[in-house]
Amino acid sequence: MSAALSEFQTRLTEWAAQEANRLSAFGKIRSQLSTDMGSSHAEYRTLIRKRLSSCLQNDAAHFDEVAILDLSRPPRIQQYAISISHTEDAGGFLYATAHTEQRLGFDIESLERVRPAIVKRVLSPGEAFDESRIAQHWCAKEAVVKALAHSTGLLPLITEIHISWLDDSRFVANGAWGFAVAIGDFGFSVAVSE
Ligand SMILES: CC(C)(COP(=O)(O)OP(=O)(O)OC[C@H]1O[C@@H](n2cnc3c(N)ncnc32)[C@H](O)[C@@H]1OP(=O)(O)O)[C@@H](O)C(=O)NCCC(=O)NCCS
Repeated sequence: MSAALSEFQTRLTEWAAQEANRLSAFGKIRSQLSTDMGSSHAEYRTLIRKRLSSCLQNDAAHFDEVAILDLSRPPRIQQYAISISHTEDAGGFLYATAHTEQRLGFDIESLERVRPAIVKRVLSPGEAFDESRIAQHWCAKEAVVKALAHSTGLLPLITEIHISWLDDSRFVANGAWGFAVAIGDFGFSVAVSE
């Protein structure tokens, strides 16, 4: 596995430990990321769903596998929060046990794909833009969009998401919160809503 993917997983564990109190209603956040789940690989979306299904089976979760393997909609099962993301060189998923209203949003993006002009175009009114964390900002917005997904699947617009940084990596946005980092060739973000 690429070093950046494994370093992100370490950062995720550290962040979850730091936020343990606020995350207490979620189970342990588990993740699986790899280069072969990137969009440059044939059947990458199917591979992600199969690996997710296999992780859930290992956890002895009760779920409808058809719903996990159905590529026409994001995976949703009772008592779990799940989020998928893929970019050209890597992809994967995050999941945790959760109550109905709790959601996770995950985003991974190749740094070279995120241009300042793109991020500037999707800022919400009054949202600050910091040149030093362009990819983090983009990924944070995308992760929040997913974390705020309605149970019908309806998503907010990225231009409605207002990121406010608490420190180098942690942010709040529209009632959601999370962290975003740039590591190696990738930006990553995880967002939580309850
Ligand atoms: C839907 C959206 C979040 C996908 O993000 P992306 O960076 O294009 O792609 P990613 O690889 O990170 O994420 C794709 C995954 O998001 C997940 N996803 C899509 N719709 C979702 C929803 N309604 N709820 C939760 N997750 C969803 C899916 O699992 C999908 O992967 P899969 O179809 O292979 O399972 C993105 O298109 C978006 O921001 N939409 C908001 C609408 C908007 O403002 N559009 C203008 C953009 S400038």
